[in-house]
Amino acid sequence: MKRKSLAIANWKMNLSLPDIERFFDRFSFEDTPPDVEILFCPSFIGIERTVALTDGKPALVGAQDVYIEEKGAFTGEVSIRQIVDAGCTHVIVGHSERRRLFSETDELVGEKVRIALQHRIAPVVCLGESYVEKEAGKTKQVVEQQVRTCLSNLRGSDAKKVIVAYEPVWAISTSPDNPGGMADSPESAQVVHKLIRKVVEEMYGESVASVIQIAYGGSVDANNVATFTRMDDIDGVLVGSASKEAGSFKKIITTLSQS
Ligand code: PGA
Repeated sequence: MKRKSLAIANWKMNLSLPDIERFFDRFSFEDTPPDVEILFCPSFIGIERTVALTDGKPALVGAQDVYIEEKGAFTGEVSIRQIVDAGCTHVIVGHSERRRLFSETDELVGEKVRIALQHRIAPVVCLGESYVEKEAGKTKQVVEQQVRTCLSNLRGSDAKKVIVAYEPVWAISTSPDNPGGMADSPESAQVVHKLIRKVVEEMYGESVASVIQIAYGGSVDANNVATFTRMDDIDGVLVGSASKEAGSFKKIITTLSQS
């Protein structure tokens, strides 16, 4: 079965409210390919505006993080209910910047996955090895452990809704771990995507593994996107830098549809 392609824009802490307005002034939804699911992930304060500006359009909106409690005295945090209220359908969890800068562990990410699914929000679970781990030949071991912990204790029907984003930390364009601003090679990314699908199959069976969407992230742009999405197990892309500008993200979506 062909899985739907995904184009996820992770705007990180970049676009201001006027920037978001400008983005959608320039982003044309006309001729949006019907085979690509588009997901915009602004900062928390940009969610409502993005939801309003994409109303009636073929696009979804996600948060970049969520806290594990539903409400209470957690100054500075945002709950899953608040994300639902704001109009999100998705939430990114476990991004490598959260892991590196805010000490998030696989166990915490697993809790975020579970709270999101309880509220029918699809988690986009980011994982991937660091440069040191890659150089030590530990990619498979690290990724397998991340999948097992971040996706533990789910019902099969929920596990199907999870999106995994394989983002080797050393390939993220703005990562201090990225020696030369390079992406992974499509071939080695495919090997890891296949491994992720195999681990999901061991955990939740073939019926889940065959439908779960797995996206690649790390220095994706309009020039290299098709080389990734042509691969059997790569169902889409999570894009940081090249998603900030409307023309460049639109080109990624169009190229992805044709690949
Ligand atoms: P990048 O970021 O596309 O700029 O490499 C991807 C990400 O960090 O999600």
